[in-house]
Amino acid sequence: MLNVLALVSGGGTNLQAILDAVAQGRIKNVRIAGVISNNPKAYALERAKAAGVPGECISPKNFATRDEFNEKFLEAVLSYKPDLIVLAGFLVVIPPAMISKYRNRIINIHPSLIPSFCGTGYYGLKVHEAALERGVKVVGATVHFVDEGTDTGPIILQKAVEVQLGDTPEILQKRVMEQAEWKILPQAIDLIAQGRVQVINGKTVIDESAGKTDDE
Ligand code: GAR
Repeated sequence: MLNVLALVSGGGTNLQAILDAVAQGRIKNVRIAGVISNNPKAYALERAKAAGVPGECISPKNFATRDEFNEKFLEAVLSYKPDLIVLAGFLVVIPPAMISKYRNRIINIHPSLIPSFCGTGYYGLKVHEAALERGVKVVGATVHFVDEGTDTGPIILQKAVEVQLGDTPEILQKRVMEQAEWKILPQAIDLIAQGRVQVINGKTVIDESAGKTDDE
């Protein structure tokens, strides 16, 4: 059984997709051990509560220095004894000590096809604003392992979504969530839980021999 800790900052629709997939058996061999938010008002915490998953808030705002926050944050993370940490819309920089301790055991969902529209300053709605501003015709989402850079770690899964005439950033964000994020994030967790994801020379290799999941 893979012990999963989810880190969240906002609405938690990706967290919900994970909770639903676990409840419906689309993610096997996984227990959601807890949810940590940096934002006390995050609706994601309500979703955790409704699913009977322990949730707590640790905000950088409640600490005098970033180092102090990083230390307490890592302590809280360790208390869940996670095998895998999932950044499900988590908008705080992960402390370097946590990245090295959990090398290739932290995954993130990003709302673009990396390497487009990613890196510092590209998060949430800003990603979709930038895509519409550039006029791209295809967007999407990426699940990747977290390394020391911003959105630079090994890519696990990506899914493309078409831009449509009349899209606003909000409409596009919703389509990318529905058609890509809520599918590939649970799928990536299931692949990892089945031991089908390896990182070799900085790139992932997915073992396809074990059969395909429902969404493929
Ligand atoms: C999602 O679109 C996620 O991809 C994005 O924040 C949103 C969170 O929504 N994450 C990033 O931009 C990370 N760089 P949610 O709270 O409803 O899951």
